[in-house]
Amino acid sequence: MKVLGLESSCDETAAAIVEDGRRILADVVASQVDLHAAFGGVVPELASRAHLVEIVPVIEEALRRAGLGWDGLDGLAVTRGPGLVGALLVALQAGKAIAYARGLPVVGVHHLEGHLSAVFLENDDVPAFPHVALLVSGGHTSLIEVTAPGHFREISRTRDDAAGEAFDKVAKLLGLGYPGGVAIERLARGGDPRALKLPRPLPARSELDFSFSGLKTWVLTWVHANGLPEGQALADLCASFQRAVVDSLVGKTREAMRQVGATQLQLAGGVAANGALRAALVAAGEADGFHLFVPPPRLCTDNAAMIAAAGYHRLAAGERAGPDLNADANLALPS
Ligand code: KG4
Ligand code: ZN
Repeated sequence: MKVLGLESSCDETAAAIVEDGRRILADVVASQVDLHAAFGGVVPELASRAHLVEIVPVIEEALRRAGLGWDGLDGLAVTRGPGLVGALLVALQAGKAIAYARGLPVVGVHHLEGHLSAVFLENDDVPAFPHVALLVSGGHTSLIEVTAPGHFREISRTRDDAAGEAFDKVAKLLGLGYPGGVAIERLARGGDPRALKLPRPLPARSELDFSFSGLKTWVLTWVHANGLPEGQALADLCASFQRAVVDSLVGKTREAMRQVGATQLQLAGGVAANGALRAALVAAGEADGFHLFVPPPRLCTDNAAMIAAAGYHRLAAGERAGPDLNADANLALPS
């Protein structure tokens, strides 16, 4: 079954064609990073308008790269939430129009279900069900038990900022531009993670919730007291901040794995592209005896292949969206 996936929930316009939820035939992402960089974050109105311009070209490019015409498609999967509603509506309406015109089935997909499906793409070594997922993106940070394909139980979540949001906000206040995760990781490589003593949020061992806004405030307070750092001092601050975020993510994840009694962990979402986090979780898995599954970095950040992979299971199970398929900015993860 060849599924066309479409995604426009935030600042990437994406189309992909995936066969049987596993094999990527085409994966096209038009990023708006340059558009939003000057503002230090995503401007919703600009995002919606850029999606309108990009959506048809990315779909045409996906068909071209896959060497398929419309007749080669068996169904569509479109992100229906959560996200920016004006942005979501662009891919959603494009998908509904194609489904209507071509008589194809279409399903709406939860964006995080997409992130949690990326690990099954182009990979024979995949997690079994149930397993635990650490989902870390710009909008969400949660520990989730994936009980079956398309079924989830949230174990814990952040009480304030998402991990990616903390990276982005700290990068912005250090003048490093948007998105911040990549810039901080690059600078952190030349810094000493023990140079500055940032706190570890919610330190009680049995506490599985996350909190990152205090780390951001710690950096802001440090900059007020010491001025904007440069050179080695900047690298040390980035390394120390990154270490605090990674320590927190890894500590809570180890405890959740222990409490649930799970032996398999998948790491998903844009922050999963972070090399320090990946390395720390591999080491934790070796120490605690769990196996870590992580998609390649390009499938960790927003893309439509993960949406097609998630939609494949729904279409294969007979699910069909009706003409009332609509965007939901606050869509809950299916249980
Ligand atoms: O999943 P994603 O592409 O979009 C959302 O659904 O939010 O995640 C984007 C987030 C941004 O906050 C970005 O700064 C972060 O992922 N990110 C990283 C890295 N690459 C992307 N954070 C830390 N290290 C990275 N290498
Ligand atoms: Zn995402």
